[in-house]
Amino acid sequence: MKIIKISATESTNDYLKVLSREKDLEDGTILVAHDQTKGRGQRQNSWVSKAGESLTFSVLKRFDGFPVSQKSALTFAVSIGMKIALDELQISSVEIKWPNDIMADGKKVAGILIENSLSGRNIQSSIIGIGLNVNEEEFKALPQATSMYLNTGRRYEINRVLEIVAQEVLHQLSLIKPSGNSELKQHYEHSLFRKHYISVFETETGKKFNGSIRGVTDQGELLVETEHESIQHFTFKEIKLHY
Ligand code: BTN
Repeated sequence: MKIIKISATESTNDYLKVLSREKDLEDGTILVAHDQTKGRGQRQNSWVSKAGESLTFSVLKRFDGFPVSQKSALTFAVSIGMKIALDELQISSVEIKWPNDIMADGKKVAGILIENSLSGRNIQSSIIGIGLNVNEEEFKALPQATSMYLNTGRRYEINRVLEIVAQEVLHQLSLIKPSGNSELKQHYEHSLFRKHYISVFETETGKKFNGSIRGVTDQGELLVETEHESIQHFTFKEIKLHY
């Protein structure tokens, strides 16, 4: 495993993106920062982390002719890898909240930000950013967040956690195929949080409705069974889940 360690940067995704253009970094290279000062999240959110308490790193995945139509396989693989690693670390009730929040006992313990570089209809490379809350003792302004410490009462050595998480994520990424990824999809669906419960969904226009999660499409869209028993699919931009 090729790991580059730096003391501080604004965002490991941005740093690795620049570095991968300047240098001939090999597939699977990992960049980890002790202190990430301006982390980015999904939906233009920020990702706040504390030096020495959080794990913030990015993985470079290079492809050779990987169709963009298969891009959801990246979400499937990374989410599954995170779940397996956290199960291995004996974190309780680890589940995936669509599309790629990692939950432990119903609270968010990790987030994933995948950014792809395209060439026509192919993905050339992806930068996969992962933020994992490790030793934080509290999240004052974030009642829906948790850490590994809050989950188990144990403290962790960040580098050891990185090794386990990176190994599982890289392994799952190695299973991605350009031709189709139905096994990864099935595995992902199996780990989806609240699959069997009624949840509240909010559309782009602010309209809320009840439904239950039935799985995802090959493209990673969420399949929701509405109260009228019809199944609808939604992209990440179209819908938010409220629990
Ligand atoms: C989310 O849940 O909104 C995704 C959060 C992703 C955070 C990680 S931390 C390492 C990498 N660098 C960033 O700037 N963001 C990702």
